[in-house]
Amino acid sequence: MGTSDIAKYAYQTLVQSKSLAGFAHKELSTKLMELLAPGALPNTKPITKDLLIKLRRSMSDLEQIDWLEAEEGVYPKAQLFEAPWLTWLSRYPLVWLDLPSTWERRRSRRFQDLPNNVNKEIYPDYYLQNFHHQTDGYLSDHSAGLYDIQVEILFNGTADCMRRRVIAPLKRGLNRYADRNPSSLKILDVATGTGRTLQQIRRAIPEVELLGIDLSIAYLKQASQYLNNRKGRLAQLLRGNAEKLPFPNSSIQAITCVYLLHELPKEARQNVLKECLRVLEPGGILILADSVQIADSPAFKNILEDFPKIFHEPYYRDYINDDIDKRLHSCGFEGITAASHFMTRIWSATKPLEKNQ
Ligand SMILES: C[S@@+](CC[C@H](N)C(=O)[O-])C[C@H]1O[C@@H](n2cnc3c(N)ncnc32)[C@H](O)[C@@H]1O
Repeated sequence: MGTSDIAKYAYQTLVQSKSLAGFAHKELSTKLMELLAPGALPNTKPITKDLLIKLRRSMSDLEQIDWLEAEEGVYPKAQLFEAPWLTWLSRYPLVWLDLPSTWERRRSRRFQDLPNNVNKEIYPDYYLQNFHHQTDGYLSDHSAGLYDIQVEILFNGTADCMRRRVIAPLKRGLNRYADRNPSSLKILDVATGTGRTLQQIRRAIPEVELLGIDLSIAYLKQASQYLNNRKGRLAQLLRGNAEKLPFPNSSIQAITCVYLLHELPKEARQNVLKECLRVLEPGGILILADSVQIADSPAFKNILEDFPKIFHEPYYRDYINDDIDKRLHSCGFEGITAASHFMTRIWSATKPLEKNQ
């Protein structure tokens, strides 16, 4: 057995362990909810054997492409194993302790249960909610500390594997600037949250300048702790609204935006895409990653429709029926392509060059 075989075996073991842990957590927490808070149980459709097979196949395809792209050098293999494991482990008990309050929020349909010290004037109305019934919404250190663990559980340990799908199209898009010094290139991660996508990008493309923007100070603080205590260039993190990006026109070469669109009402969704177009340099690339939709993943229709019954996601139903390609076209993007990986769809779109370029 060579080193590469051992690494592949270790990777498969990690993926399977995370998947098992995710399933086990969900099974156990549902059983607890049945026992302790039956009023909070969502009315969802059962997952059939056929659907389960399709889900497993789709997860296995994701695992394969994740490994293959590492082998091809799109990102280092070591990256497949990286996460703040000890921090996550130490915070995991808090996920359990937090469950009763999320059940209560779901049962009583309390969706605006936010910390008292929040200055509501600096946030758009649609943001002032407990997305996923999360304690404090996006507006506390407590929420920021648990978010990554909760997302990994939700996706059975595949969240970072899905985020990594932005890297290959991002690198292809940046090839256009191969004649420039990489340190002069800027990649902006819109709605960066705790910075997991920036973390993936920095390992794969270490020379470029990284910027992240998000509305939540608490999430940015968490992102800064993860990103800026490591070797590598300082990632610049800004608080701001993705609908009004604080960057000049045509100043950025690449933008990523992961798991934001489904949390926005449709007008805000369009505003964000327009802003991305504005700040991109002509020829620059936008990579979107978000939930798959009914049109591209009809086999998962039941799960997609049930998702907002389980987690407070007020704009998700609209999102899964939205035509993102059309939105990108209508803003003025070109070269639009899209592909689905398990529960995530990745769009890639280019800002057209100006006539004389
Ligand atoms: C589901 S999380 C995704 C975070 C991160 N991209 C990831 O992959 O985990 C959505 C993020 O979008 C941020 N957000 C929501 N609306 C926003 C807006 N209008 N402008 C900037 N950030 C926003 C939230 O604060 C949160 O961090």
